[in-house]
Amino acid sequence: MQIDILTLFPKMFESPFAEGIIKRAIDKEKLSIDFLNFRKYSEDNYGSVDDYPYGGAAGMILKPEPIFKAVDELREKRKEYFNSDQFPLYYLTPQGEKFDQEMAKELSKKDYFALLAGRYKDVDYRVREHLVRREISIGDYVLSGGELPAMVIVDAIARLQKGVLSDFESAETDSFHNQQIDCPYYTRPREYRGYEVPEVLLSGNHKKIADWQEKKRKELTKKFRNINLNE
Ligand code: ADE
Repeated sequence: MQIDILTLFPKMFESPFAEGIIKRAIDKEKLSIDFLNFRKYSEDNYGSVDDYPYGGAAGMILKPEPIFKAVDELREKRKEYFNSDQFPLYYLTPQGEKFDQEMAKELSKKDYFALLAGRYKDVDYRVREHLVRREISIGDYVLSGGELPAMVIVDAIARLQKGVLSDFESAETDSFHNQQIDCPYYTRPREYRGYEVPEVLLSGNHKKIADWQEKKRKELTKKFRNINLNE
């Protein structure tokens, strides 16, 4: 799978993408990520990519030209992946569709898409109207740019690529795999500072353990998401 990230701050991604599961996905060639700093398409000598909003408002707006030109470059470079008028550009914005495990699964099956990490107050609306095919939010709060959301999305997708997690680490048991929150886990020691591991987990009775885990998943899903899994 190939992902392009359009960003003014490609360096922000260096360390998160050089560790752990994302690195493993890249090393195993399950995932390839490239960055395009659209400042290179700035049309003045100062490299500026933002300007004041027409009509007046607080904050600056990303200009359309550098982003349209960056997408022209990618449209040509990645043309084997999509029909020419369907360039899959996804814009990261708090106004977008809410990212969740279902969307992670859906995106993880794609061969290619590009993420546009915004900065400043917003991007010129023509980019959203005429280039962007999907708008994604990672939650109802405002971050100072789309870079952290892009990292979140890449991480969630990297671990779903086939052959990235071992069977042992399997994503099938993660929280939200079936809408539900996962059960609690414990490891050694059996007792620490007087805090004990629940007896049932030490019983060796697989049926009892599975029932307890299922009960806990239901309890926690009700408690933290107010969803009744029985209904
Ligand atoms: N850009 C700023 N805040 C964001 C959010 N919550 N989700 C996606 N992109 C963003």
